[in-house]
Amino acid sequence: MANLEIVDVSHAYGPKKVLNNVNLRVGAGQVVALVGPSGCGKSTLLRAILGTHPPQSGQVLVGEKVVDGPTRDVGIVYQHYSLYEFLTARQNVAFGLMLDQTSLPFRVFNYFAWRKLRKQHLEQADEFLKKVGLYAARDQYPSEMSGGMRQRVAIAQALIMQPSVLLLDEPFGALDEATREELQLMLLQLYAENVRARSENRVPPYTVVIVTHELNEALFVSDRVVGLSQYHADGANGATIVYDRPAPIFTPDDEKDLSRFVEQKEELIQCVFSPTVQKDHLNYITFWKEHEKHPTTSGADV
Ligand SMILES: Nc1ncnc2c1ncn2[C@@H]1O[C@H](COP(=O)(O)OP(=O)(O)OP(=O)(O)O)[C@@H](O)[C@H]1O
Ligand SMILES: [Mg+2]
Repeated sequence: MANLEIVDVSHAYGPKKVLNNVNLRVGAGQVVALVGPSGCGKSTLLRAILGTHPPQSGQVLVGEKVVDGPTRDVGIVYQHYSLYEFLTARQNVAFGLMLDQTSLPFRVFNYFAWRKLRKQHLEQADEFLKKVGLYAARDQYPSEMSGGMRQRVAIAQALIMQPSVLLLDEPFGALDEATREELQLMLLQLYAENVRARSENRVPPYTVVIVTHELNEALFVSDRVVGLSQYHADGANGATIVYDRPAPIFTPDDEKDLSRFVEQKEELIQCVFSPTVQKDHLNYITFWKEHEKHPTTSGADV
């Protein structure tokens, strides 16, 4: 079963055609990097997946259900994600569970049951703070945290809801280089959990679509790179998927060897970002074909 399916999605803002017949299937446990020229419609596509802005035509399915509004099945973290300033890290992370599982009358009239549930939520929040490497700072308020710490809390806040798909829209774009690398490693830790789950015949827990401008980052953290671009034969009608190939897989202990990216980066620049290079995109939309040939090189389960 695919965790995410985008079927013939097109979208325009007034006369401006942005998305042109986008199709994509993402399996459980995949980390997909979505890249493309600025303004090509990456955020528009994420909003369609999130359900806040349904596409004008086509469908998005998450866990086989058609998305027709926001649900807890899809989580999102933006570049400037706001936390609740009056809550500590663990309270911020637990907050979504509380809203989801209790109502105000429940909290008032079942005070002791509520206290117990609250304790469970905070314990779960601690688990997710451990996953993002922030357990030691669990009692700090956002004003006491660095930008990198705040993004870790935001990601834990999204993960605790156990979404079928987590969307990250340039999540590390505002961070300095060193912090950015630390957060990339955090994503590799999550991916390592997927690999472990798969080896134990469990469903891998994290399915991620990450938008980034940085091609090294895209190739480092993902197991699959998808290019969205208006530079194709029917580009006047908007951007579509012009590239879809496996990315090299890294574990958190591997060296970030940039030489492994050189060839594929050049391929992406030509295929996705260049307005002038002539290309036959079908030659670059080969993820599932390549996956069938080498099923161990990436994490797809469908
Ligand atoms: N609400 C809106 N109303 C009108 N036009 C919009 C709206 N949102 C986005 N657009 C336009 O649609 C196009 C796609 O925007 P979108 O934000 O999806 O691109 P993007 O690929 O995420 O860009 P970036 O890489 O700069 O974040 C842009 O030309 C943008 O100006
Ligand atoms: Mg954007």
